[in-house]
Order: sequence, then structure tokens, then C-alpha cells
Amino acid sequence: MIKETSTVTDLAAELRGKLVDELGEWEPFRVPAVENAMRTVPRHVFLPGVPIEEAYSHANIVTHRDAEGVALSSASSTGTVAGMLQQLEVRPGHRVLEIGAGTGYNAALLARLAGPEGEVTTLDIDPDVAEGARRNLTAAGYGRVQVICGDGADGYPAAAPFDRIIVTAGSWDIPPAWLEQLTPGGRIVVPLRIRGLTRSVALERHGVCWRSVSVENDGFIPLRGAGHQPERNIRLDSDGKLILRVDDGQPADADALRRALGGSSVQLWTGVMVTSQEKGTGFGNLDYWLAEPDGLCRLLIRSPDHGLVAPALAYGSMALLEGETLAYLTKRPEGEASSYELGVCAYGPASEKLARRTAERIRAWDTGRTLATHIEVYPSGSPVPSPGTGTLLTAAKLHIRVIVRTLSPDK
Ligand SMILES: C[S@@+](CC[C@H](N)C(=O)[O-])C[C@H]1O[C@@H](n2cnc3c(N)ncnc32)[C@H](O)[C@@H]1O
Repeated sequence: MIKETSTVTDLAAELRGKLVDELGEWEPFRVPAVENAMRTVPRHVFLPGVPIEEAYSHANIVTHRDAEGVALSSASSTGTVAGMLQQLEVRPGHRVLEIGAGTGYNAALLARLAGPEGEVTTLDIDPDVAEGARRNLTAAGYGRVQVICGDGADGYPAAAPFDRIIVTAGSWDIPPAWLEQLTPGGRIVVPLRIRGLTRSVALERHGVCWRSVSVENDGFIPLRGAGHQPERNIRLDSDGKLILRVDDGQPADADALRRALGGSSVQLWTGVMVTSQEKGTGFGNLDYWLAEPDGLCRLLIRSPDHGLVAPALAYGSMALLEGETLAYLTKRPEGEASSYELGVCAYGPASEKLARRTAERIRAWDTGRTLATHIEVYPSGSPVPSPGTGTLLTAAKLHIRVIVRTLSPDK
């Protein structure tokens, strides 16, 4: 155990209590054991060298970067940690695998939830990160967690089967090993990336299909190693203020899009109103409603002086790409307000048509925006039903096929 002065221990306990109180005020804890674990595990011990006030902030704290400054490892934001652990529902005695050890903080929380009868194994692909996690876990008194350095794409057969698997990095696919290493009643929580969107999905087995028991909005550092699937970032201007991010092998002609953006645009307003809270959550599940057919992408804005019509979010906007035509979401009024009207702005040869189609999808979302999102995962090679009513999108990965619906398949 780490030796610290009683002043540091007292301050840490006070800051931790405040942090967990705030989390509960934003969204009451559904699983009391997760709240208790977060009140107990000393987050600052997993962030050596980070000022104690920062260690007890809600932020995602980056601990490792590559030579270009891209984040490789971090302690995820407290809201994400609490949300995913509640999705996972670890019980005393469970055998748990975590992919993405990072600082070791989440593994310590898992160890508290699984209790002395349970067993937690955590994997990290990065030897330095794995070593740091091991050190932090020992310092905090959780040396019983097994830390392994390896590529999580293979799971960890030596300790399988697991009652629970949690992946704490963005995953483009679900490799067979994860599903095979779960017990029959097991559950996996994974931040699944579909068309550039990431959702933390809790999945359970129903015959050949894995169905979501919950789906939450989230963003994550992508997995490295065998399961890594790079996104393409296309510069739309000479100084890198506007980037188009495309995923899932989507075709995009950078030169044609740059030419389109230099030409005239078509703007349409939809009459669909959103509140500032909905804007704060990235408009809930609107992106799924825009994702079919294939054109959904992200327009990222790196400078306020971008020269575009007010994008729906200051840092960017959902966008749709069809051949050489690009449409993105806008809002009015431009500045801060309590509510906004959503609009579309399109550039390129089919701008009129794509703007109209996007506006229609936004209106369709308006009538169904309160419906929950359901995700089904079918391992490749197993029979996949026809998409059916309420289907928002289907996506084929290497190892799985995914269906996203607004209605559960039982309805
Ligand atoms: C957001 S951090 C995890 C946060 C961590 N759970 C915590 O409590 O601090 C994501 C981690 O996933 C690791 N990672 C990335 N690709 C991986 C892979 N293929 N297998 C195992 N770990 C991986 C990264 O090195 C990084 O440490």
C-alpha cells in the first residue's frame, strides 16, 4: 500500500466524496455497488504525478501520448467509468476480464465489485502502461488483480471463461475470442464503433445473436493491435481547419470535395427544434437516423474561423457524403440559445437532392427521437435475419454483422 500523510489521505477522501456526489447529482447511480466502489478506490494513487485536485476532476486524463501527441492511454472520464460499470453489473464472485488496463483504476473498481471471491484480469497492449497499472494497483492495495501485457484481440484464454468482459478502448469489431471466452450467461460491455459513431454497448447472448441490454453515447481512444481499423481524416482546406472523418471503408474523393466546398451551397431549414441539453448530448440518436444509406461521416472543425454556415456543434457536425456531394447539419440561431432549429447545408453536384433527403431524415428522427436504440450483433457465418421494421442501419465488420434498430426484435 502507498504511504501518504494523513493530510493527503483526508484531502483525497474529501475530493473523492465530492466527485461521487456530483456524479450522482448529474445522473443518480442505478447500481449502488458502483457508487460504493467509486467512494472507496483512491483515484489519485492511479495518477501519480498528477495534482490531486486534477486526479479528482471528472476529466479524461491522458497519461501516454505518441510522438505526434496523439493520446495512447488515459484514465477515462469519471462519467464514462461509472456508466460502463453500471452497464456491466459485476456481482461478487464474478470472473472479469478488462481489455485496456490503462492506469489500473477501473481494474481496482472491478476488483471491489467482484469481491475477494472474484477474479479480475486486465490486459494492456503497451508494456509501459501495463507495468504502470501493476505498480498503481499494488500501491492502492489491489495487487491481487492480474495485469497482463498483450493484445486484447485474443482475450485471455488462460483465465477464461469470464462472467464479464469490459473493453475500455474504442473497438471497430468484436473478435470471436471475446464472445467465446464468456460463460453462457455472460455479458460484454464494449465501446463499439459503427460508421465513426461510438456507443458503449452491453451485449448478452440470445441463440446466435448478441442483443444489447443497454446502449450509451461515448467516445474512446481506439484499440491498437490486430483489431485496429484506421479512420481516414481528409483535409478539406489548405490549412487543416476543416477535416472530414470517414470510416468503415467509405469511399471519399478528397479533391472533388474540396472543389465542391469552393462552389455554391444549398441551405434548408427543417422546422425541427432541439433544446440546448439535446445539443449538449450531440442530439442523442440523430446520427443513427442519418446513417443509412452509407454516407454518414463527421465534419471536424479545428478553428472558429472556418468560413462555413453555422455548424450544428462548434467542434463539428454530422455530415452526409454521397459521391462528390457533402451535406452537414447547421443550426439557428448561431450563438448560444435555449433552443435551436436544425438545418442542412449542402455543397456539390447533387446538393439540392442530398439536402432534401437529409432534411427528411431529420424530420423522421423528430417523430421517433424518444425511441430507445437497440443493437444486435451476429458473428460472421451465422444467419442474419432481414433487417425489418425500425432498422436504422446495418454494418458488416470482419467478424460480426451489426443491426441498429429503434424497436427491440421482440416487438
Ligand atoms: C482509455 S485507456 C483505458 C483506461 C483504463 N481502463 C483505466 O482505468 O485507466 C485505453 C487503454 O487501452 C489500451 N489498448 C489499446 N489497444 C489495446 C489492445 N489491442 N489490447 C489491450 N489494450 C489495448 C491502451 O494502451 C490504453 O491503455
